[in-house]
Amino acid sequence: MNSDSDLQIAGDILAVQHLLQPAKAHPSTVAEFAGLARSIAADRAQWAHLVDYDATTRWYHRLRTGPGYEVWLLSWVPGQGTGMHGHGDSSGVLTVLEGELTERTDKGARLLNAGAQRVFAPGYAHDVVNDSLEPAVSLHVYYPGLTEMPMHGTACSAPRARDAVTA
Ligand SMILES: [Fe+2]
Repeated sequence: MNSDSDLQIAGDILAVQHLLQPAKAHPSTVAEFAGLARSIAADRAQWAHLVDYDATTRWYHRLRTGPGYEVWLLSWVPGQGTGMHGHGDSSGVLTVLEGELTERTDKGARLLNAGAQRVFAPGYAHDVVNDSLEPAVSLHVYYPGLTEMPMHGTACSAPRARDAVTA
């Protein structure tokens, strides 16, 4: 018996339905947005058939929207990257679904394998590129939805095809 509390529950707490919070229809915390991304990542039927690869421009598809947030699916052929950019007032969760991506910031480079997640706040800047020899797919949740993607300097970016779109 737990002696740190005077509260004792008799019976099965899960049987007391009115004490349980109803399931949320939409995420509202960082952990919930990261969880949404992980649940989509785990359910390939939601996204695998939608993925396309375009060697001339980075491909992206808005997979889902909700109150104040958007979920984007992106593909990356080898060599495609964003260039150093910010996300305006948006926070984000980047999740690698397939392949691997490299994220460069002013603090260095980080290899992101399938399943890796990066959560960032407004004001965060990075350069994301597929430096591998295989295509990659990623999922991006933005809250609020991404309305601008200001490009920053070129100091951290090697020459490559660039597209100022979602990342
Ligand atoms: Fe980005």
